[in-house]
Amino acid sequence: MAEEPGSTAPDEGQNAGGLYGGGVVQLLTVDVARNPQPVFKALIEGGPVQRMTGLAGPAVVATGRAAIDEIFKYPDVYSSAGHFGSLGNVRPLIPIEVDPPEQRKYRKLINPIFAPQAVERWREPVTRLVHELIDAFGDAEEIDYAKQFSTPLPSQIFLTLLGLPIEDLPTFLRLKDGIVRPSVLLGLPPNHPDVKAHQQAIAQEIYAYYNKILDERELERKDDLLSHLLDAEIDGEKLTRDELLDICFLFLTAGLDTISASLETFMAYLAEHPERRAEVVADPDNIDNVVEELLRWESPVMLVSRRATRDTELQGCPVHKGEQVYVFIGAANVDSNDLADADEVRFDRTVNRHIAFGGGVHRCLGSHLARLELRIILREWHSRIPHYRIKPGVKLDISPGVRSVDSFPMLLGKGE
Ligand code: HEM
Repeated sequence: MAEEPGSTAPDEGQNAGGLYGGGVVQLLTVDVARNPQPVFKALIEGGPVQRMTGLAGPAVVATGRAAIDEIFKYPDVYSSAGHFGSLGNVRPLIPIEVDPPEQRKYRKLINPIFAPQAVERWREPVTRLVHELIDAFGDAEEIDYAKQFSTPLPSQIFLTLLGLPIEDLPTFLRLKDGIVRPSVLLGLPPNHPDVKAHQQAIAQEIYAYYNKILDERELERKDDLLSHLLDAEIDGEKLTRDELLDICFLFLTAGLDTISASLETFMAYLAEHPERRAEVVADPDNIDNVVEELLRWESPVMLVSRRATRDTELQGCPVHKGEQVYVFIGAANVDSNDLADADEVRFDRTVNRHIAFGGGVHRCLGSHLARLELRIILREWHSRIPHYRIKPGVKLDISPGVRSVDSFPMLLGKGE
């Protein structure tokens, strides 16, 4: 079905019309990613589900909380499977590109490794790594928060979880960036053939990198993530080598940029709101609530995507088989139909049912680890560096989707 951007077919439900008539591409810009909440509010006012031009044809955009809850509830209708390779991977990433019932099997097997009690074993190394990076600032009054802290830290933590030496950091970052942002690295447009070729070559390197470590761990187990995965079993069955690789490949994207994006968006907010930052400094024991509220407000992962497996209707809007469904979880998090004071950032909320980690069967596998990391990092940072601001004149280039930055010039100082 062809659809002109901005057209409103009567049988097709509410279209975004004038405001975002250019379609989804207009929602995935640096300007929107820098300040998404007003755009999300305007979108919700246009209707909780709208038809728009997607990145590859007609699509559906869900912004309201009730609609999004419905999408998450029915993975058989709103599928995560069937399309893969966007990161150069040659098989579906496990479990994010797999539908139930297989997906549930994998989750049952991996969940215990990332359960709240299990991730506690990583508290000490995370704390140590935070302090090492801050120590390395020395007496500097200006740093690049992204380059010196929020980018290397999640990768260093992950290397530690994998039982790998910190010296592998440059390789690890090169591999991650090679699949996540190949066009930025090469300075070429995303659809340039060299970009895909580069990404696919890096993907092969990633499989080889993990294969080598898995060979080593097969011979000798350690107390690390890969050894736990090798030993995990369900109904007497263990993961095959390909399955292990497809899980590890996903960790490289799901577990790193998401933490960087959270740190960058949280710190940008706190740098620009000194009165809120003062609350964080004054009450370190409230850090859990601070993290939850900033996850809700900032939604570091703006959206996720599904594909309709059949014709259906979502909150009165027709959805056609095969269409892409964009799930703007960031919008649902500021939906005032769901939360009365959704526009306010409040660190004293007693109830906060945000969906920054998604929902339903694919809800983030790493949420307990993410929470552990973010709580420790914010607490330790503010105990040592209570005053900081974005370098005057700098406008952060926040990328759409996963809202991370390549550069974040920050001034550290007294009383700012
Ligand atoms: C604050 C940081 C994080 C945020 C905001 C975040 C967000 C999300 C979201 C929104 C999803 C749902 C994707 C979908 O429905 O299609 C997801 C899934 C996932 N996340 Fe996270 N994530 C974070 C950290 C992590 C970490 C540290 C790990 C490392 C283990 C991780 C591993 C995963 C995995 C494996 C999935 C797929 C789960 C499945 O499909 O069953 N995430 N995450």
